[in-house]
Amino acid sequence: MANFNFIQMADPQVGMFDRFSGMDPEAAEFLRKNGLNVKDAPKSEGLKQDRANLTTAIDQFEEIKPEFVVVCGDMVDTAGDENEIALIRETLGAYGEDTPVHWVPGNHDIGVNNLIPDSESTAKYRAEFGADYYSFDHAESKFIILNSVLLDRPQNLLDEHKTQMDFLGDTLRSRDSKESEHVIAFMHHPLFLNNAEEPDVDFDWAPSPPNQPDGYWTIPLERRAPVVKLLREAKVQTVFAGHWHRNHEASDDGLDVVVTSALGYPLGNDPSGYRMVSIADGKLSHEYRGL
Ligand SMILES: [Fe+2]
Repeated sequence: MANFNFIQMADPQVGMFDRFSGMDPEAAEFLRKNGLNVKDAPKSEGLKQDRANLTTAIDQFEEIKPEFVVVCGDMVDTAGDENEIALIRETLGAYGEDTPVHWVPGNHDIGVNNLIPDSESTAKYRAEFGADYYSFDHAESKFIILNSVLLDRPQNLLDEHKTQMDFLGDTLRSRDSKESEHVIAFMHHPLFLNNAEEPDVDFDWAPSPPNQPDGYWTIPLERRAPVVKLLREAKVQTVFAGHWHRNHEASDDGLDVVVTSALGYPLGNDPSGYRMVSIADGKLSHEYRGL
């Protein structure tokens, strides 16, 4: 049995501090009423705060020495923005030259208007970050990266959606259960926030942001259910996610969804940070670390 640790983080979303700081108090109050905990903070110009968070995290990773890092999406606030992507490259990209860094696509990375992917936005993402869904093995465990933006809104890429579902099924079924100690999945959107069969409507505590459709924070039941079925059949225990910019955990009949707050701008009460995940003596444990 191998003992090791890795880092899971989400939403460095470079550029978001500039967009969300120094907001007009009325606009901030409106967002707070819609469930987004925007702080009354002075304007943080440019990418200064994003850079500070990334370099602080990487300094801490140098001490922790994780086996690898998984970034659960929203690397940048504006897909294709050269300055934002350059900062990701200079920080996490450079760190990735020594320690593997695995990218997971977020809606801000691969969605047109931060929502619906198409063939062009997907090709751009792949050119910048590589495959949007794939698996890798480490020690005796298997790790599966999924494109949840495609799961959320596949309407422009129905063939690709089918290909990803086939990939998930084939990867899980081809696994020899004795060979893999843990099977762990990563995606940007949480599969669910309370239970696997919850409907697509928002809970009082998870309203969609203003100008966004209902069910913004999770995968619609219609496409969630087949994923849950495959994960359950393969006895996948944990799915790590981001997107909500706050910490949250839900468990439904042995399937755990662990939502990690943002390394960038947080929208809940947790500070910016990342999650340290440990596998020791066959058991998986994790803890959130604020920067
Ligand atoms: Fe995000």
